[in-house]
Amino acid sequence: MSVISTRIQGDVLVVTADNPPVNALGAAVRQGLMDAMRQAASDDAVKAVVIRCDGRTFFAGADITEFGKPPVSPSLPEVIDAIENCPKPVVAAIHGTALGGGLEVALGCHYRVAVPSAKLGLPEVKLGILPGAGGTQRLPRVVGVEAALPMIVTGDPVPAKKAKAMGLLDALVEDEAGLEDAAIAFAQDVAGRSEHPVSSRRSDRIADTPPSAFDDFRKANARRLKGFEAPEACIQAVEAAVSQPYEEGIKTERVLFQKFVTGTQSKALRHVFFAERAAQKIDDLPKDIEILPIRKVGIIGAGTMGGGIAMNFLSAGIPVTMVEMKQDALDRGMGIIRRNYDNTAKKGRITQQQVDTAMSNLTGSLDYADLADCDLVIEAVFELMDIKKQVFGKLDSIMKPGAILATNTSYLNVNEIAASTGRPEWVIGLHFFSPANVMRLLEIVRGDRTAPQVLATAMKLARTIGKVAVVSGVCHGFIGNRMLAARQKQANALLMEGAKPHQIDQVLLDFGFPMGPFQMADLAGLDLGWKEEESKGETIRDVLCERGRRGQKTGKGFYDYDEKRNRTPSDEVNAIVAGFAAKSGKAQRDIGDDEIRERLLFPMVNEGALILEEGIAQRASDIDMVWLNGYGWPAYTGGPMFWADIVGLSTVVAGLERHGDAMPDLTISSLLKDKAAKGERFNG
Ligand code: CAA
Repeated sequence: MSVISTRIQGDVLVVTADNPPVNALGAAVRQGLMDAMRQAASDDAVKAVVIRCDGRTFFAGADITEFGKPPVSPSLPEVIDAIENCPKPVVAAIHGTALGGGLEVALGCHYRVAVPSAKLGLPEVKLGILPGAGGTQRLPRVVGVEAALPMIVTGDPVPAKKAKAMGLLDALVEDEAGLEDAAIAFAQDVAGRSEHPVSSRRSDRIADTPPSAFDDFRKANARRLKGFEAPEACIQAVEAAVSQPYEEGIKTERVLFQKFVTGTQSKALRHVFFAERAAQKIDDLPKDIEILPIRKVGIIGAGTMGGGIAMNFLSAGIPVTMVEMKQDALDRGMGIIRRNYDNTAKKGRITQQQVDTAMSNLTGSLDYADLADCDLVIEAVFELMDIKKQVFGKLDSIMKPGAILATNTSYLNVNEIAASTGRPEWVIGLHFFSPANVMRLLEIVRGDRTAPQVLATAMKLARTIGKVAVVSGVCHGFIGNRMLAARQKQANALLMEGAKPHQIDQVLLDFGFPMGPFQMADLAGLDLGWKEEESKGETIRDVLCERGRRGQKTGKGFYDYDEKRNRTPSDEVNAIVAGFAAKSGKAQRDIGDDEIRERLLFPMVNEGALILEEGIAQRASDIDMVWLNGYGWPAYTGGPMFWADIVGLSTVVAGLERHGDAMPDLTISSLLKDKAAKGERFNG
């Protein structure tokens, strides 16, 4: 069956795409659209055209799998020009998502109608490129620069109602089932008018742009866009839409597109796109496995973690019962949840009605027995094995059969926790990252005896609450914290050898991390888990805490802070560290940034390789997902394993060997060595 079919209804040519799953604009679709435009032009009986899609969405963009391969004619710009040059009015009928090349097709059409649930956007920038089929030239001409810039530069789509308000849509059709008929009626109506079809190229709106608009935009978004190359190219392309005639602007867009589509950042971001989807797949689970319904969730612990976890479910409309030991702790926890929601409502991100609905679904309790009928219970109590075991023993005696018992532990052995119940198949790790209502990552820890159905249900649930889930096997710290420990070990060693905290942090900031390890420690508080009465001044942390250097909250930690929390390096800290180094007989030296970077990042890659070797992670790209979504690894490098592929695995091995004396207890993964020797990569 052809991916593009046509039929004539009255005097309207209805062009329908059917290219599951998302109607990507692959070569066959492009050719089909080209043929349909020829048919429309040559058939006198046709007075107007409707372009629509079957399935779940309008065209969701160019076919990303074609990127990097030799181009196949006709190109998307050629197809869109053909649509725009059609002598009969062409109407796009949009449902689902009109994204990237999909929106560019719609912009080539003379009119656009959509259902209210539709979303329209140019997300190319998220793939490290810019719209390459006229989007940067046509969109500003249709909606003006002010509305077009954020859409093109951030890639975030807009809902249909907003699109209508900004002039991107000509009409909204309330009912999806009626979209095709409404689009045909719309096409007949415009065909009957005397004026020619309105091309997106003709507009005066673009002339309104104040000269400062682009620099203002650059400044306002500098933080969010730091390190990414494509956003600047997007801005330059829109600038060209203002400063150059259409034909020139299109050429500028093309040149920039060609440059970026072959760039490393684009490769990395495409890897991220597919990695995110691959992570959802668990190789050894049957496709038709039954997913258990999760209608009610129990949470033990109303602290920061428990509260954040609860918000995920409340926001998804799933009732939560939260259990604490003492009334005041419970009240405090529930109060924080309400305040968080109220603040989000104040920023206009949710309505008061949504706040009220979420809060009405939250029940507080001091009694475990109130959890009995929950389909899932997640404990977020103190990170001590004995306490976890007690909690799970209790849950085992209370929870109904068929309930999933989950631990939010960040390090502990999930098998051991599971063994403290009589139903280890129902036990799983759900490791949320703080702040749990914000961070996208969820590590799902599969115990040796976790039932496949329990795992599949957890994966599905992660999607429901908007998390990127990655499956990890059981080991100390799972995927993320185990690799973090490898980095922290080197950060501490480098400090003793003479690198300064700010130097180490800066290397990671320059790499693209939002924060370095010592900034992070100051933010979290150096006294986290430290007890004054037990401190013997034996570690750097002991001494810093004893001297009141407990982090940002005390105005000093590894850094000194001013009232605005600006940090400056501290001579006192350097002296303390130097004292410890002298005591241990270590001579301090100047350490270059390259060595610091290699010693922080290569051991992480090595730990990732060990994690793969041991079967803790299913695939290298899952490890990338953990670090991108949970620890701020810069997306434009693709994650630690993809980055290692780009650097070259033999370079990583050589680096590890070169720094071998400084890292005496590091074992180089045989998988890493093997791949390096064969010239292979982790990711394909
Ligand atoms: N090309 C190729 N495959 C695509 C694709 C695309 N543009 N978009 C989605 N897919 C694939 C996914 O990889 C996935 O495949 P598997 O089932 O094998 O994993 C499948 O379609 C379904 O995708 P999702 O799981 O993401 O489905 P969803 O319903 O959750 O989301 C979506 C649908 C919102 C369309 C989402 O897939 C999406 O955001 N897609 C990408 C959109 C995009 O970036 N478009 C711009 C492309 S670049 C471009 O158009 C350049 C240009 O100007 C010339």
